[in-house]
Amino acid sequence: LRLCIPCDSVARAVGADAVAEALVAEAGRRRLDVEVMRTSSRGLYWLEPLLELDGPDGRLGFGPVTPEDVPSLLDALAGEGVHPLALGAVEEIPYLKSQQRLLFARAGITRPLSLEDYRAHGGYEGLARAIALSGDEIVAAVLDSGLRGRGGAAFPAGIKWRTVRGAVAEQKYVVCNADEGDSGTFADRMQMEGDPFLLIEGMTIAGLAVGATLGYIYVRSEYPQAVQTLRAALEIAREAGYLGGDVAGSGRAFDLEVRVGAGAYICGEETALLDSLEGKRGVVRAKPPLPALQGLFGQPTLVHNVLTLTSVPTILARGAQFYRDFGMGRSLGTMPFQLAGNVRHGGLVERAFGLTLRELVEGYGGGTASGRPLKAAQVGGPLGAWVPPSQFDTPLDYEAFAAMGAMLGHGGVVVADDSLDMAQMARFALQFCAEESCGKCTPCRIGSTRGVEVVDRLLAAPDAAARDEQVILLKDLCDTLTYGSLCALGGMTAYPVTSALKHFPADFGLETSEAD
Ligand code: NAI
Ligand code: SF4
Repeated sequence: LRLCIPCDSVARAVGADAVAEALVAEAGRRRLDVEVMRTSSRGLYWLEPLLELDGPDGRLGFGPVTPEDVPSLLDALAGEGVHPLALGAVEEIPYLKSQQRLLFARAGITRPLSLEDYRAHGGYEGLARAIALSGDEIVAAVLDSGLRGRGGAAFPAGIKWRTVRGAVAEQKYVVCNADEGDSGTFADRMQMEGDPFLLIEGMTIAGLAVGATLGYIYVRSEYPQAVQTLRAALEIAREAGYLGGDVAGSGRAFDLEVRVGAGAYICGEETALLDSLEGKRGVVRAKPPLPALQGLFGQPTLVHNVLTLTSVPTILARGAQFYRDFGMGRSLGTMPFQLAGNVRHGGLVERAFGLTLRELVEGYGGGTASGRPLKAAQVGGPLGAWVPPSQFDTPLDYEAFAAMGAMLGHGGVVVADDSLDMAQMARFALQFCAEESCGKCTPCRIGSTRGVEVVDRLLAAPDAAARDEQVILLKDLCDTLTYGSLCALGGMTAYPVTSALKHFPADFGLETSEAD
């Protein structure tokens, strides 16, 4: 019997290691020939620990499994496979079957540190194509694919690649921003823990394209398993000749190192991240100069989020046209949306842009975990807007979200039921900004703290006139933060505040007319 249990940290947090140990022990007692494979996770987190039987007809799933279920599961597997936890063929589970997995094509299938598994499932095909092309041709493929930065800003990746390629310098760098700090997001972590060679391959292609010979992966300290996995994968890739002085026999050099952050949200902002990589305190730099021209140690640097870089091998292997056939408008390709918070079926949903927020939250997510009515979803991290159900039919597309005063960000969606107090959420956003501010500019450093005080005064106001006064102040402050901040931390803090005020005035003790 060949059984698969994920080694992803979320699966482990809900008991996957104990299930794997129980399986080995019980199989030993029964003298059964059982091989337990630790694979990556499918990202169907509500089913973890998800046990899969790898048989001639594909994978059969059982979950969520506890160590106590192991004896009865082994009984079932020795017979017809009938068990209360049986889920049938894993790839037929509607949550998974309806997805369009390009970045997460190997999720749940391969072992993270097996180069053999990676190559057997399409790994390193993109690099092989890239080696046969010139740097300009690789950049052209990325431009044609329509890929936009997945960290949140959605800047066209190919333009950034062209800028770095065109810059003249002795040394250029590729930097991966893996400081995934947004609430409700975990796609970067899943990718690094589950499919580390994909990131290595994407960065190597980027290095060849822009003429960089060294890259850094900057991982947040809260992701120790990702750090460990990446470091081990780098060794394996180097030994196999995929990194180093002669990348895959191309005669060109590229190597990578992992660096660990120290827990500051602002170090996810690209220039603060570069300062941190240089060994300094992470403080935001004014742009220009753009990192593409003067980045790490003052050299041209290609900085991208994990998911932008892991999209690249598919684009090279299958062609720009294949990639851009997914999506809508200017939002092309697929996006791994992440469902978290008060939701029944939390997990990762990779789909082409264009499905609606309702399909995501109510369809995939199955509504709230509490069973209470949905109140809102916060899209795009702690500084994303709160979107009420009346706007849930908006397609998940960068432009459609911007048009309603919201943003997709890194694709994190945090669901809330009707018990959540939106005034407290608005206060939290300002408090968060105050705590995480790098202190470089006044609107954010001081405005965030004043903002918390204004919300407190608004909530304590004795009458409508006093409330009006505070609402005017709060909106004014939000404008100052939006237009006067140097970076997105201060610049986006207004989103959760103004969206909460607009859609949930009653939580602030306001009549609708007062909030307007
Ligand atoms: P930005 O719009 O200033 O820049 C986006 C990227 O394009 C940067 O790498 C920038 O250097 C590059 N760029 C801009 N113009 C260029 C040009 N002409 N040539 C070459 N490169 C150019 O946005 P920023 O401040 O980097 O990011 C803000 C976003 O970050 C927000 O929209 C938010 O969604 C996201 N965010 C993501 C978080 C996460 O955990 N993933 C956390 C917080 C915010
Ligand atoms: Fe620093 Fe805040 Fe200004 Fe950004 S907005 S530069 S985090 S003080």
